[in-house]
Amino acid sequence: MLKTQKIPVIINCDTGIDDAVAIMIGVKSEKLDIKLITTDVGNVNTRQSAINTLNVLEILHAPEIPVVVGDGRCFVRERARFTAHGNNGLGGFELKNNPRKITEGDAVEEMYKTIMESEQKITIICISPTTNLARLFTEHADCIDKIEKVVVMAGSIEDIGENEMPYPEFNVSGDPEAGEVLLNSNVDIMIVPMEMGHTAYLDWKDVFDTKNLNNTGEILEKIYRSYKDRHVKNGIATHDGCAVAYLTNPELFEVSDVFAEIKYYDSIDTGVLVMDFDKSPNTKTCIKVNTQKFKKVYFKCLKKCD
Ligand code: RIB
Ligand code: CA
Repeated sequence: MLKTQKIPVIINCDTGIDDAVAIMIGVKSEKLDIKLITTDVGNVNTRQSAINTLNVLEILHAPEIPVVVGDGRCFVRERARFTAHGNNGLGGFELKNNPRKITEGDAVEEMYKTIMESEQKITIICISPTTNLARLFTEHADCIDKIEKVVVMAGSIEDIGENEMPYPEFNVSGDPEAGEVLLNSNVDIMIVPMEMGHTAYLDWKDVFDTKNLNNTGEILEKIYRSYKDRHVKNGIATHDGCAVAYLTNPELFEVSDVFAEIKYYDSIDTGVLVMDFDKSPNTKTCIKVNTQKFKKVYFKCLKKCD
């Protein structure tokens, strides 16, 4: 695709293992003009997420993309964090002497500057808690008109939780107040819920094929060994990869209008995204993904790596 036809995006992430898959698809799809990557509180601290992101960009031989560390504090109050992504958020993967360095500055200010300076409206892909977005919309509401849409990996459609409670999907439960700001903003949102990454998961044959494809695949397979998802036992969930794939290949997904809100539960001391398809809609969500087509996109992008 001509560069002019590429979709200008900002990626907000907490790199993490499935974030790495998302960045690989985002870079190798050649359909996105990734202007900026910012990191949020999540799988690991924001600085480590930035280091992980730079390491992924380097092994992908990606174009130069500024990576700016997020503030690291939650929007309203600190929340317990956990990591399912190994000791450094990327299964322990480290790159010695990466020439790519963190771009110093304030993540939210860099988001604002990038959006305001862009001739085209910017699409934001959020594959982490939405703390940076909440600050952006609160401190710089004038940029909202220049945002095409926000594609956010968040929540779940079904009540896949336990004891009568929806599952506390991490990108929401990590900072639910920030999620509320996003939902209540006037920005067009496409939710990519957990069911997408649970459906289009990489099975062990896909992981074996990944390892044997090329050097990047070999690195990814090692990273995958640290990924734990309580709903996918026989493979690797692709939550964040699905969020990016929604933008690069929307034909893979079926979408629906939906009413979504954040509900708080004392028992888990955080909030959860709850969807209701019977109420008057306030946003949109993916409801189905074509797994085979997703895997084709994944391997087509991976084949472009070395
Ligand atoms: O619940 C899945 C989400 O939480 C993914 O974005 C994963 O990387 C973690 O951030
Ligand atoms: Ca993530």
